[in-house]
Formats: sequence, C-alpha cells, structure tokens
Amino acid sequence: MKHFISTRELDKAEAISLLDATHDMAVARATKESSKTGLQGMTIANVFFEDSTRTRLSFEVAARALGADVITFTSAGSSVSKGESLKDTLKTLEAMGADAIVLRHAQSGSAETVVRSGWVGSHIVNAGDGTHEHPTQALLDAYTVRCRLLGSTSQGRDLTGVSVVIAGDVLHSRVARSNLWLLSTLGATVSVAAPISLQPRGLAGMGVQTFSTLDDALDSDPQVVMTLRVQRERMSSGFFPNESEYSRFWGMTAPRLAKLGDHAIVMHPGPMNRGLEISSSVADSARSTVTEQVTNGVAARMAVLQRIMGGNR
Ligand code: CP
Repeated sequence: MKHFISTRELDKAEAISLLDATHDMAVARATKESSKTGLQGMTIANVFFEDSTRTRLSFEVAARALGADVITFTSAGSSVSKGESLKDTLKTLEAMGADAIVLRHAQSGSAETVVRSGWVGSHIVNAGDGTHEHPTQALLDAYTVRCRLLGSTSQGRDLTGVSVVIAGDVLHSRVARSNLWLLSTLGATVSVAAPISLQPRGLAGMGVQTFSTLDDALDSDPQVVMTLRVQRERMSSGFFPNESEYSRFWGMTAPRLAKLGDHAIVMHPGPMNRGLEISSSVADSARSTVTEQVTNGVAARMAVLQRIMGGNR
C-alpha cells in the first residue's frame, strides 16, 4: 500500500489490520512507549487547501510521534494567490524533501488525480477531497465504534452485528461516504437518514436502507448514531427552510438520545454546529464519543503513515 486515498479500496482483512495497527499505536501513546523509530529521518508535508483543525493537527502529532519531520502548507498566505498550480505546489514540496503528502482539497477526486498524474513520487494521503472521501476519519470512526461496543476483546474483530445510522447532511459529506464503505466492509449494517434535499443521487444504489426522518431511523434501534455537520459553506441555495426547523426535525437532542438503547453511542466528526445538528447536552454527554474520536484520530493517522511509509526503511 503506497497511498491511502479511499476506504473503498480496502478489503475486510486490510481494514481489520489497520484497526489493529491503530490499537497498537493508541496503546503505545497511552503507555508513553516510544514509537519514534517508525519514520525517523522522513518528512511529511501537510498540504491543506481547505480549513482544518482536527485533521491537520492530528497528522502533525502523528508524524512527530513516529519521529518524522513535518512541513505544513496552507493555501492561505501561499503562492497559490499568484496563480501557482496544484502540480507545481506539490513538486515544490517534494523538492524540499517531502516523502509523503497529506492533501486536503476542495476538489472531489483531487488526491486520486495526484496519484494518477505521477506529478510527484511521494506517498499521498487523502485528508478530505471535496464532498467525496475522508478515509482517515472513517478509520478513526470505525476504531472508536469497535472500542466502545466490543471493548477490550476487540483486537482482530470486524463489526458484524453492529447497526449504524449516518444522519444529516449526507449530500455534502465525505465523512459519510468513507464511513459507508468502510463500515459495510467491516460487516456493520449501515443506514442513512437525511432530508430528501440532502440525500445524494445514487444513494439507493449504495445498498443502504434510507430514512427520510431521523425519528424513523432512531426507531430502528441503532447502536451508533453518526451525526453529520450541516456544511453551510457548501450550500449555495436553501437546502432546508431554516435552522430552527432543521434542528427540530434533524437535531440529535436529549429526548432523541433517550430513545436509544443503554449502550448506544452518538458520534460527530467535528466541527459541530451546537444547537443545529446536535444539542450541547448530547455532545457533552457520556454517550458522545466526540473527544474520543479526536484522540483516536492521532493513533489512526499514525497507523496509516506507518503502513504506507514504513516499508521505505
Ligand atoms: N473532522 C474533520 O475533518 O475536522 P477538521 O475539518 O477540523 O479537520
């Protein structure tokens, strides 16, 4: 595996192996065991053409934890404003010694384009391409589900028997797509709940049950509710009448949480719109995995970097 572009390309054995590697990295971090032998002497370039807090910083922490050097590029303040192309930006970073490029870009398919083009020889990691995929988010999410629901005996196991509802702005969500592929590969039963205006075309062909109300989806008694952010920045027209109506029908609130089973969890990839798709009482509750997801993101990204770059040593 030279690149990490999509969860769709993982088979079940590879997906479980990445979850197990994430676990090993999480244990190493928790016990302060040094993992710095991993990528010492290598350089990872974080290349972000879109804003990010969690993904960019956790890749930085992950790279440093493995002993790699990190260079960070954000398009704001760069020579992109002078017309420099994506190709020339990446070639410039590679010329500075980048062994891997972690790319976030607003264009769907951009990471795959970079791999196919052969512009650079570096390893490429997709850190979110438009509304298409966010594979490392899906990996950390699947790991979080496995830890919470299967506990200490989860090593080596898939997610057969686990039911997940992905709810909200599915249309604009790369997190939804990557999770849908990965969770299904791992054997989970995945359903989608979204307003009709926020359901992507072709959803029926993805082989998932679709609900057009959140309450119907919760009545199916899922063990995991993955609440998605309303992506206002990608909305050029009115996809729903107003925010108070959205939160009334689609908000993950305390009364809706109370409908779920005792061990069910509520996830959110962040950043959250508190009071819109998730209430503060749910986001801050013991059933919420929001901060656990962030913590697991470092281990998941360590596992991915080690997997694709470790063979170079
Ligand atoms: N979940 C996620 O991708 O968050 P950031 O946009 O802050 O990286």
